[in-house]
Amino acid sequence: MRPIRIALTKGRLEKDTVAVLEKLGYDCEELHNKGRRLILHIPGANMEVVLAKAADVITYVEHGVCDMGVVGKDTIMEHGGSFFEVADLGFGRCRFALAVKKGEDFYSGYAEKTIATKYPNVTRLFFAEKSMDIRVIKIEGSVELAPLLGLSDGIVDIVETGTTLKENGLEIQEEVAPISARLIVNIASMKMRKKELEPIISQIQSAVTEAP
Ligand code: PRP
Repeated sequence: MRPIRIALTKGRLEKDTVAVLEKLGYDCEELHNKGRRLILHIPGANMEVVLAKAADVITYVEHGVCDMGVVGKDTIMEHGGSFFEVADLGFGRCRFALAVKKGEDFYSGYAEKTIATKYPNVTRLFFAEKSMDIRVIKIEGSVELAPLLGLSDGIVDIVETGTTLKENGLEIQEEVAPISARLIVNIASMKMRKKELEPIISQIQSAVTEAP
């Protein structure tokens, strides 16, 4: 049987995820010296680490080619999918927020409003819950540009430190949802490889709930 595979989101969540694995005693030497390799072995454990983009972590876990994954709640909320979400890992903390140009009120006036975002599903759901019709324009990155260029009345985006908003003359109008990294597990793996997965999941759960 192939090793247990865990898909990690490359980039922002990577360092903290590796720190959790090391705290559990896994040898992450290959991850520290990975070069351009995307599948890394954990010596002494029947485990492989796969490095992928956030949305792809969900795809690989949903299809069962990876048993577990670490991905942000932002991607889970936008992408959806069938898997178990078994732990809030407590890192990668930030939030979704509705932001506008400083001093503006998104809710003033009667004209239909336009939102620019990398997260159209999250945005549509947020305004649907308010029974408010809005136009959504999908942007791939640096969404803060859209209201500055006059493309939209506001943005729905991730805010971590708030620096990007501040340095571009924008401010939060309203919080949308808190975000943090989550551990997800493939539904079939949870049954078929229960004996191997359960101890790993509970180790991770206790590692992230213990005081640092
Ligand atoms: C994210 C997000 C904001 C920024 C927020 O972008 O979309 O632009 O980080 O962080 P801050 O509140 O700490 O300033 P990212 O760096 O992922 O790049 P992107 O906009 O090109 O997607």
